[in-house]
Amino acid sequence: MIRENVHRPMTTTDPIHRNPHLPFGDQQTSPFYGNDILTVNQFSRDDLVYTFGVAHEMREMVTRVGTFDLLKGKILGNLFYEVSTRTATSFATAIQRLGGSVIQINEVKYSSVAKGESLPDTIRTMEAYCDVIALRHPEVGSAALAARYASKPVINAGDGVGEHPTQALLDLFTIVEEQGHVDGLTITLLGDLRYGRTVHSLARLLSKFDVKVHLVSPPSLRMPANVMAEVLESGLSPTEHDTLNGVLPKTDVLYVTRVQKERFANPADYESVKSSYVVDEETMAMAKESMTLMHPFPRVNEIAMEVDADPRAAYFRQMGYGMYVRMALLAMVLGKA
Ligand code: CP
Repeated sequence: MIRENVHRPMTTTDPIHRNPHLPFGDQQTSPFYGNDILTVNQFSRDDLVYTFGVAHEMREMVTRVGTFDLLKGKILGNLFYEVSTRTATSFATAIQRLGGSVIQINEVKYSSVAKGESLPDTIRTMEAYCDVIALRHPEVGSAALAARYASKPVINAGDGVGEHPTQALLDLFTIVEEQGHVDGLTITLLGDLRYGRTVHSLARLLSKFDVKVHLVSPPSLRMPANVMAEVLESGLSPTEHDTLNGVLPKTDVLYVTRVQKERFANPADYESVKSSYVVDEETMAMAKESMTLMHPFPRVNEIAMEVDADPRAAYFRQMGYGMYVRMALLAMVLGKA
């Protein structure tokens, strides 16, 4: 189902901050009720304030009571054509924390996809049984295609090298929770900016804020031209760098990504860039005491495990925030937030 909130303009300069409070209930006038979530471009700053307010309430409720019946009787179809640990698990946990249930298809090779069933037919099958579908698929635009055929909300859980909007929303929520605000921050994205869909979505989302963004990558893994054009048009002026050293001391949030081995056509190209950056104790010694270190995970070798005990390492907390944000999104598209 595609509705009209796609590309709604920013409508407020409300500073997004920690701990906003919003009530739960039947709010079927929510702009996201019945909608797909396909791209971060659907979210204005007002929408982000709203979403994070709901996510914060979810966090409080989970802390207080663990599980509650806001979405009792609702069923999530978790349809994953690509591997996932965090996104699949946190969506499944999110619906169950809200009293609903999940149909999980992790290995499409054990579904009728293996017999040649098309994405539109698979989606229309899933929606016969489910109230909302989370879809991960290797092709850019697959979530939008699915949404054209579905009458129930489709949530993009990663479409190839395209977008990963729910990850970007939880990334921004993490920045708000860890730093207290977004405007005024210096944010550095490091690693595979070409194939990493999380950074494509996050850059688009950051372009709604008054932030300084540095992009650090090997020349062959620069941010794609279409994403750069979009963020430049939105008023963000990211600077591109080959090395981290020059920008690290001024960085408030360092967002590290894995080099996406599975997206390389030529293994030799992957081998030549796979160890371009490693954040270790030496790196952290040059960073601000208040810096937040993030990573969408999985990591391979981009952040040394010795850094995990550093209080600035927020990546495991980031995973936890993901469940609250996905609880909020499920409640919003199902008209209960
Ligand atoms: N961050 C993320 O998308 O992780 P998974 O691939 O494990 O879902």
